[in-house]
Amino acid sequence: MAELQEVQITEEKPLLPGQTPEAAKTHSVETPYGSVTFTVYGTPKPKRPAILTYHDVGLNYKSCFQPLFQFGDMQEIIQNFVRVHVDAPGMEEGAPVFPLGYQYPSLDQLADMIPCVLQYLNFSTIIGVGVGAGAYILSRYALTGLTSSIPEMILGHLFSQEELSGNSELIQKYRNIITHAPNLDNIELYWNSYNNRRDLNFERGGDITLKCPVMLVVGDQAPHEDAVVECNSKLDPTQTSFLKMADSGGQPQLTQPGKLTEAFKYFLQGMGYMASSCMTRLSRSRTASLTSAASIDGNRSRSRTLSQSSESGTLSSGPPGHTMEVSC
Ligand code: BEZ
Repeated sequence: MAELQEVQITEEKPLLPGQTPEAAKTHSVETPYGSVTFTVYGTPKPKRPAILTYHDVGLNYKSCFQPLFQFGDMQEIIQNFVRVHVDAPGMEEGAPVFPLGYQYPSLDQLADMIPCVLQYLNFSTIIGVGVGAGAYILSRYALTGLTSSIPEMILGHLFSQEELSGNSELIQKYRNIITHAPNLDNIELYWNSYNNRRDLNFERGGDITLKCPVMLVVGDQAPHEDAVVECNSKLDPTQTSFLKMADSGGQPQLTQPGKLTEAFKYFLQGMGYMASSCMTRLSRSRTASLTSAASIDGNRSRSRTLSQSSESGTLSSGPPGHTMEVSC
């Protein structure tokens, strides 16, 4: 019986006569992890993402992607897109050998260089094409936000989508602050560290939980509301005051400073740091009304809850065995 044999077939379909490769331009940008070189083919097409490639180990963009991108049938696809071919540091043609002891960027850091490339080119969306290590790098990049610039990603962390699309004066102000920050590169480093954070691994009743009094506050329309609710569920309810602030988004300290001040007073009072006479005076002097309802996590019956009541406009602090209610 004839044995099946593996035969390698290389498709030969080079560019047709008249099909010339588009002119390429090579650029380098400095990033927090060193400089990165990339080559751009074609021109940006309005309302279309760029195709961004990342090659595998042992290759560069040409040895990895030239046969594909110069394949005849590929032309009708790629002519509709500008292409950005990234070379990993030191892999570009003619790259000098790094000095002895040079610390090569980690794959995460290589992924973190991609926003610098996109910012430089002023591109906001890409279709990523990666091979091997390049596929990992692009996946890592996609995990931290594929389609947004760094300021937009940070705004999406700070505020809810509803707040952002409402485009209030506050949103415009903070968008402006972040977009034009002279230290945007430093902000990006902080952002990267945040995205690489370890889990706190809190466990209610376990060894790893906060033993000190905690006041947790989250807007009921905050982008990370679920995470704060989950955090509350892992803290010691006898030590934790949880306030889910009604009609509040991602930054209650900016939008609801009055309510937050009041909650903080009760929290401090719970620790014995505010005389109740002072509390009464402060409450009386408060002019802003707390009219909206706060939602309270149902299974926190033993925890201190700072709650706003919609009917009476009261704010109450309820450590076990000690509930205080002050009319406002
Ligand atoms: C391109 O057209 O995108 C391309 C051309 C040569 C090598 C790699 C890519």
